[in-house]
Amino acid sequence: MSASVTGLAESATEPHVFVIFGSTGDLARRKLIPAFYELQDREDFRHRSVVLGVGRQTLTDDEFRAEAAEALRAAGLDPDDTERWCSACLHYQSISDGFEALADRIRRIEADHSLLAENRAFYLALPPQVFETTVTGLAEAGLNHSAGWTRLVVEKPFGHSFESAVALNDLVHTVFDEEQIYRIDHYLGKDTVQNLLVFRFANALFESAWNRDRIEEVQITVAESLGVEDRAGYYDQAGAVRDMVQSHLAQLLTLVAMEPPTRLEAAAIRDEKVKVLAAVRAIDPERVVWGQYATSSGIDGTIPGYTDDLGQDSSTETFVALELFIDNWRWEGVPFRLRTGKKLPGKATSIAVVFKEAPISLFGPEHAGHAQANVLMLTIQPDEGFKLFFDVKGPGEGAPLRTEAFTFSYQEAFGDLPDAYETLLGDVIDGDQTLFVRGDEVERSWHLFDPLLESPHEVVAYEAGVDWGPPSAAQLVGQHGWLEQA
Ligand code: BG6
Repeated sequence: MSASVTGLAESATEPHVFVIFGSTGDLARRKLIPAFYELQDREDFRHRSVVLGVGRQTLTDDEFRAEAAEALRAAGLDPDDTERWCSACLHYQSISDGFEALADRIRRIEADHSLLAENRAFYLALPPQVFETTVTGLAEAGLNHSAGWTRLVVEKPFGHSFESAVALNDLVHTVFDEEQIYRIDHYLGKDTVQNLLVFRFANALFESAWNRDRIEEVQITVAESLGVEDRAGYYDQAGAVRDMVQSHLAQLLTLVAMEPPTRLEAAAIRDEKVKVLAAVRAIDPERVVWGQYATSSGIDGTIPGYTDDLGQDSSTETFVALELFIDNWRWEGVPFRLRTGKKLPGKATSIAVVFKEAPISLFGPEHAGHAQANVLMLTIQPDEGFKLFFDVKGPGEGAPLRTEAFTFSYQEAFGDLPDAYETLLGDVIDGDQTLFVRGDEVERSWHLFDPLLESPHEVVAYEAGVDWGPPSAAQLVGQHGWLEQA
């Protein structure tokens, strides 16, 4: 199975040790361990991959394996096979013993499993506060280079502002080369997000209409029905702009708006993405709506507001809608309207490309229906696929217009899609950086959205589980992002 769009992953997996810092944490349990287990289905993977969990706790290998097996059972995976895999492929090392001890342990594992090429990946599934000590510790123990390859995988958020992202890049670059660094944005691991490139650049029909002459506006929506759950502590320091817009929505924006790359390879694709971010005009703070979910009476009883979930007062935004413009030839004058929020009435990630209306309207209200603009609704999740809406003549006298859709469903065509982390971990091992965020890209994105956080703004309440954000957001963004729900 090839993970990324470039197809680099077709070569055989090189034997390696994958070290996970934060291996007893939530991300490792829910996503990383199951993804490694699933990767064993790759024919070339078995006997070439060993995972070394690292954490502050003192655990034996067997205790760590038992925890991992439990996580895999909770993910609905076959207990017999998962236990076999845990015993054969998982080890644990406490970081309380220091980085030199970690280096020794890695060498012993490589010897025991005949993984002598010294290929190593280090995944920092850690809170940002401990990045610095971890990166420095790796360097002091000489773990930033080896006879084979050494790769560093960093989870988001990469910094919490433009300045801190630059400082973090500087720090990491003192120890690792950019070619060794894999900054995760798990949205890039989703097949439907990678499909944006295929959809655009393999189908000339759409690409020829993908510009300011044919497109009226583009709406990018990431609506979540869940609130902050047990992450309120982290979230209150972040908010929707840092948590979602700067990363996931910015990535969707670049893939929708970028120029065709000169070649289908990481450097060329990432160059074009950076150019999009560089061309975005400074966002007008007047064209931004901020919201926070408030207690509401839902159908099944009261739904707690954000400050109830947090346990204290806060002005952190859980919703944001904004408008931006890309000052380049392709997109001049086309508004891109982005929005995301928590505890909305439904979960949907979609990109609505709204085409211009016909230049002359032959069909007015007297035709029992008014000609609508064509809309291409790309659904990233759930119900992955797309719909292209167009008008047809309904049956009967006159010309009653009806809006219908061409529909494509991933589920119907291909069944279940792989988890984003499985794809991304496979790409780290295969050395394909296409689906990872480059250092300059992450800085550009912070540069764009950071000023909004600094600008004075009012955070407007919306009813949890009932409203699609504050009413002013609907005025800013319009209806197409919610077409499926409307
Ligand atoms: C994470 C954010 O990066 O993405 C979360 O920190 C958010 O707040 C999550 O809920 C959304 O991911 P997905 O894949 O469920 O859309």
